[in-house]
Amino acid sequence: MTAQLWASERQRTAIGRVGLSAPARQAVTDLQLGSGTSVLDYGCGRGADVRALRQLGLEVSGWDPAHHPGGQLKPAEIVLLTYVVNVIEDPAERRQTLRHAWDNTRTALVVSARLRWERNQIKGREHGDGILTSRNTFQHLFAASELRDYVDEVTGARCLPAAPGLVYAFRDDEARLRYIARRIKPDAKWLTFEDTASAIAAIVDHLEQRGRLPRLEEMPQQVIALLGHLRPAELNRLAQQAADPVKVEESANRSALDTLLFLALELFHGRGPVSSLPLSVQLDVRTFFSSYAEACKRADQLLFKLRDGAYIRHAMAGSPAGKFTATALYVHRRAVHRMPTVLRLYEHCASIAAGRPPEWTVAKLRHQGRGVSWLNYPDFDSDPHPRLVSSYTVDLQTLKSSFLSYADSTNRPLLHRKHEFLAPDDPHVPKYLRLTEAEVRAGLYEQPHLIGTEEGWERELHRCGRSLKGHRLVRRTDS
Ligand SMILES: C[S@@+](CC[C@H](N)C(=O)[O-])C[C@H]1O[C@@H](n2cnc3c(N)ncnc32)[C@H](O)[C@@H]1O
Repeated sequence: MTAQLWASERQRTAIGRVGLSAPARQAVTDLQLGSGTSVLDYGCGRGADVRALRQLGLEVSGWDPAHHPGGQLKPAEIVLLTYVVNVIEDPAERRQTLRHAWDNTRTALVVSARLRWERNQIKGREHGDGILTSRNTFQHLFAASELRDYVDEVTGARCLPAAPGLVYAFRDDEARLRYIARRIKPDAKWLTFEDTASAIAAIVDHLEQRGRLPRLEEMPQQVIALLGHLRPAELNRLAQQAADPVKVEESANRSALDTLLFLALELFHGRGPVSSLPLSVQLDVRTFFSSYAEACKRADQLLFKLRDGAYIRHAMAGSPAGKFTATALYVHRRAVHRMPTVLRLYEHCASIAAGRPPEWTVAKLRHQGRGVSWLNYPDFDSDPHPRLVSSYTVDLQTLKSSFLSYADSTNRPLLHRKHEFLAPDDPHVPKYLRLTEAEVRAGLYEQPHLIGTEEGWERELHRCGRSLKGHRLVRRTDS
């Protein structure tokens, strides 16, 4: 298809950009794209992602029918299809384009598209299954779940939404499973080492972090070189002697629960044999469970508990982190890993269903019905009463998602009692708690229904003759 034959002026949708697009940036992190990975940017527009990825050392080719028709269109490990499907007005060609991108994919296809909630940013009239703008460009805005279903259907692959409007289709099951495992538990970081003693310290640290010793295949090459002269039994003895047994036990418990979480999520795509799992998960299964069958059974029980309203409410009420209300549990991003495993599974299920947004601060898990919202309070730590900028919600019963932006609102919802959203040992808790206590003493929480938004809160501050200086409540001088 050449630009001349298009019914809309698609070429005009390509913007000049400095640096990586958000989908490409997220793919670099999520899929651990490193030096030497081959990438095809299909529909690369003006080529900003091609240039930025090359600077990162990746082997990138870019092709675009309007801006770079002479570019190389050849198979690659990773194919990016960034904001292309939404600009194609012909549904048959849209499919064909996605299919062609997939045919060129060796490991993972990264598809991004604009979403329905952007509708009010686009001026134009309805045309076909989208909008024709005043600049004669076309936009088919996807519903978040529609994009995943569409990519699923056209590629026939197992797709995962990475974020709203961003879907990964994996050709290679190993890559998909490694990605899920990292979403649950990021790869262990190795301490720096330069000699035998510091290499042993790095092994001890791994043991304390993961709850088990690393296998040779999990160790960086330099560690192997430095410790190659030690027999495994000797290394084991040295590490066990040096490690803190309390830390090792705590981490072993956490790793066992992370393994259950992984296996529970994996059920959605049909679990394979233990040999299909990433090596680190296989080793966790072997270390922390009597068998793979037993681990799967426990993971199934965990999934089953998600349906039990009383169980979920009980887990929320007893959660060591977060604020439990009549309708939901609210937990700060720093503390989600401290929730009971069944609640972590709840949050992960929602993210697997519709993608977790890249920017969020507090997760809200409903116990009436099933739904998760990711709330974005970008100034949570600096603002004594953080203001809500946006929220993204997934209803797990209908799988519908919705987005609300408060960016233009003059009366945004705001938070009080910030410490309640965190784990009690969070370093910020004492400061936030002091402020809450001062506000209670000043009578600011006497009429809770008035203080949920900026204007009501300002009025109450005024009424009580107080104002805020950072996280300190002071007497007002202007009243
Ligand atoms: C919104 S731009 C995105 C450009 C680039 N991926 C980026 O994110 O900067 C959409 C691009 O899709 C290209 N395009 C249109 N039809 C296409 C097709 N059938 N196959 C591949 N690319 C196409 C257009 O030329 C345009 O450059």
